[in-house]
Amino acid sequence: MALSPARNTVTKKKTNTMDVIHTVRELRERLRAEPRVALVPTMGNLHEGHIQLIRIVKPKAACLVASIFVNRLQFGPKDDFNKYPRTLPGDSEKLDAAGCHVVFAPTEEEIYPQPQTFTVEPSSLQNILEGEFRAGHFRGVATVVLKLFNMVQPQIAIFGKKDYQQYLVLRDMVRQFELPIDIVPAETVRAEDGLALSSRNGYLSPVERKEAIRLNQQLQKVRSAIFAGESDFAKLEQAAVKRLDEYGWKTDYISVRRQQDLLTPSRQEKHLVVLGASKLGATRLIDNIEIDL
Ligand code: PAF
Repeated sequence: MALSPARNTVTKKKTNTMDVIHTVRELRERLRAEPRVALVPTMGNLHEGHIQLIRIVKPKAACLVASIFVNRLQFGPKDDFNKYPRTLPGDSEKLDAAGCHVVFAPTEEEIYPQPQTFTVEPSSLQNILEGEFRAGHFRGVATVVLKLFNMVQPQIAIFGKKDYQQYLVLRDMVRQFELPIDIVPAETVRAEDGLALSSRNGYLSPVERKEAIRLNQQLQKVRSAIFAGESDFAKLEQAAVKRLDEYGWKTDYISVRRQQDLLTPSRQEKHLVVLGASKLGATRLIDNIEIDL
């Protein structure tokens, strides 16, 4: 496989069993006769969490497509769009080994041949939690995912619950626009110490990597307290933020919400999720744990 340096595209199109495709025209041609297609949308820089998504959908479809596209529309001006790692050759090898059939790795011009003036406006769900700190993020996500759905026309698509709010936004988009696509949620894949796998973990220094598990530990503490009968969620959230920030984190939120819509739960709510976002050095990490009482 050879890389074209200017565009970070793979110039040799065929690997052992997998096609690497860069244009919508070629993609449509490749998928024309496929009866059941599953899509795994990604931004590349793949880790075990992404490969797990491939494994989950593999028995559910005849043809597995992974898309790799770093979507400028979902990054804010201060976000890491430029430094986000573009690693198509390594990603393609991993996907090939996992049994993926097609990699769709479009250029920016292919996805946005003209400025994207029509966008998907998610519900008020887009303004809370992540949305409070990343204005426009979910509009960018929903818009590119709708475009990818139109390009690939899958019957199934899978999203990891590590990005819990993203999963809910996209699930609602599919329901409300009646898109004929089954959205499959996937559990978060974790490193041995419990850190949720993320492409952004690669930004952490060795010292930060050791410290990074503290975010999950605080979420676990909140969960244990709720299981033990504590229902003053605000008190638990504040204590978790304080403990993290004592160790040098800059916490955006730790929040206990309802699983179904991420609204503030009543004390009687049985299906909760505790979500957290915090900055460790220059790296912003997110994580969450579901709590079913
Ligand atoms: O979760 C991601 O990697 C991205 O937000 C997605 C869904 C591929 C859209 O760009």
